[in-house]
Amino acid sequence: MQDQINQYTAEIEAFSPANADELEAFRIKYLGTKGLIKDLFEQFKSVGPEEKRVFGKVLNQFKQMAEAKYTDLKENFNSEIENSKSEIDLTLPGNGFEVGSRHPLSLVQSEIVDIFKRLGFVVAEGPEIEDDWHNFSALNFPDEHPARDMQDTFFIKKNSGKDDIALRTHTSSVQVRMMENGKPPFRAIMPGRVYRNEAISARAHCFFHQVEGLYIDENVSFADLKQTLYHFVQELYGEGTKVRFRPSYFPFTEPSAEMDISCTICKGAGCNMCKHSGWVEILGCGMVDPNVLENCGIDSKKFTGFAFGMGVERITNLKYVIKDLRLFSENDVRFLKQFKTEMI
Ligand code: DAH
Repeated sequence: MQDQINQYTAEIEAFSPANADELEAFRIKYLGTKGLIKDLFEQFKSVGPEEKRVFGKVLNQFKQMAEAKYTDLKENFNSEIENSKSEIDLTLPGNGFEVGSRHPLSLVQSEIVDIFKRLGFVVAEGPEIEDDWHNFSALNFPDEHPARDMQDTFFIKKNSGKDDIALRTHTSSVQVRMMENGKPPFRAIMPGRVYRNEAISARAHCFFHQVEGLYIDENVSFADLKQTLYHFVQELYGEGTKVRFRPSYFPFTEPSAEMDISCTICKGAGCNMCKHSGWVEILGCGMVDPNVLENCGIDSKKFTGFAFGMGVERITNLKYVIKDLRLFSENDVRFLKQFKTEMI
């Protein structure tokens, strides 16, 4: 028995595993339930009382030595694995960058702008805080006329009317600035944010976005208006989208119309979006009222033109079916990152 213990001790002391598998084989060979140490303890049961006294101690020390060796080696291996983890492996693929996404309203607004740019329209902008003249009076809203109530205005300063200052209620105010500051012909689109005093809900908001269009030249007719907007709709929603014009009223255009398109969601068959009519309204338009031209210093005998105004949120809803307007301004990343596009 002593010889065996000596032999095993030498083997164990000399043991140096190359990998974890060899270490595991070592454990099974010496410390396993059917291992060599277990064997020695079995043999120990049948030795005489004198030998028991001597070998009991030797055997226990030997077992402890084998266990200590195993624990040491195992710890070494574990720390080696840890160390190797912290080494940089240059062959691994790198971490990709999280690319941001553009806001759906910006995407749709630039799509609208691009279509009109291709038709030769330039982009113009104006202030969001407007005076009464640019937002109302120049656009042929008579003083105290109920037409001013068409748009619930956030007033910043309210006096008699003429000196009122307000958050602009529509981008039509930019038309006025453009015509006052230049000479015809004008061919421009004017995107921007507008404000109305409305309770916030899924279907209304106190601010939203519009794109205004203006085309003034000699001999511009309602046919030009129709063809321009027809082309716009084909570009934005695809060939075959139908349009129809319904007579309407705006103080700044005469005649005025509202334009519907065949519902982009159900293709005219009837759904919730189009209230089962097959048509959805997307913009207001008309021939610029001669009074507006004169208010802006343009000879209405020589020049005519058309204007139109559309809500970007509405156009976006018809493209992406967004049921709640509040999503546009809540900055919820789960919503925003659905509009991943290539960054420009
Ligand atoms: N400014 C109108 C609105 O906010 C939209 C509009 C209608 C603009 C007809 C126009 C137009 O230029 O011709 O409701």
